[in-house]
Amino acid sequence: MSLTFSDRLISRLTNAQSVVAFTGAGVSAESGVPTFRGSDGIWKKFKPEELANFEAFMKNPELVWEWYSARKKIIANIEPNRGHHTLVRMEQMFPRFAVITQNIDNLHRRAGSTNVFELHGNIERNYCTKCGTPYTNEEVLTQAGVPRCLKCNGLIRPDVVWFGEMLPEDEWEQSVRAAESADVFLSIGTSAIVYPAASIPLMAKHQGAYLVEINPEPTPLTDQADEFLMGASGAILPELYARLVAERQLQQLP
Ligand code: APR
Repeated sequence: MSLTFSDRLISRLTNAQSVVAFTGAGVSAESGVPTFRGSDGIWKKFKPEELANFEAFMKNPELVWEWYSARKKIIANIEPNRGHHTLVRMEQMFPRFAVITQNIDNLHRRAGSTNVFELHGNIERNYCTKCGTPYTNEEVLTQAGVPRCLKCNGLIRPDVVWFGEMLPEDEWEQSVRAAESADVFLSIGTSAIVYPAASIPLMAKHQGAYLVEINPEPTPLTDQADEFLMGASGAILPELYARLVAERQLQQLP
């Protein structure tokens, strides 16, 4: 049975010049990437304080690398899902469209999204903690044990944002700019509790964006949302896109 969408949502999207999709782990759940706080979530099994912060890394780099190497290999063998692919089509539908993601899995880019801002880094990139030299996964996963920099022998780390670390400045600024100029802001598959990323949807709402949340469960953001679409993003996004295409044909819009 096809989903129904409110006339207000369809008219807001049909007339939108600028649309933003803000994504979290939920958008990759249907690809097989575990979320962080779901019933089988990563943080239910592992301690973030032992694995996702710099002090823990410097104290026990073997343990942290073992964990990230496993995640890199899992993610390398996973494919984007219908949710990711629909956001690629939406990028072609709207004059301005951006994906702001908290995900480090690179699945938006692998699906074909081009205007992507990565707030928490990307698991396919690495760099030397001493001299900053960048390394690809191919270069680090071929080294036995904890990979070391070929230039300065420093420890190499994944280019992801760990707890207590600053977000990448450029990605943050571009995300704030996109959020503040959005006509419609879609918050998709995030529990909306990890700051400062979780402040981005509120900035958009504050600037007048029509705030839509897509999630199988309500979150602390739901009360602020103009619409809550309850369900999986891999099911809702393709239907929403199809409805928009039908509306454009109806209105004979390009
Ligand atoms: N479609 C849409 N949403 C889904 C789906 C799905 N198929 N499956 C689960 N969800 C929702 C869950 O209900 C939950 O609200 O996705 C959300 C995932 O929340 P988290 O696991 O907390 O992930 P996220 O919000 O991305 O976490 C934010 O926390 O651990 C850090 O740096 C990490 O980027 C991460 C940040």
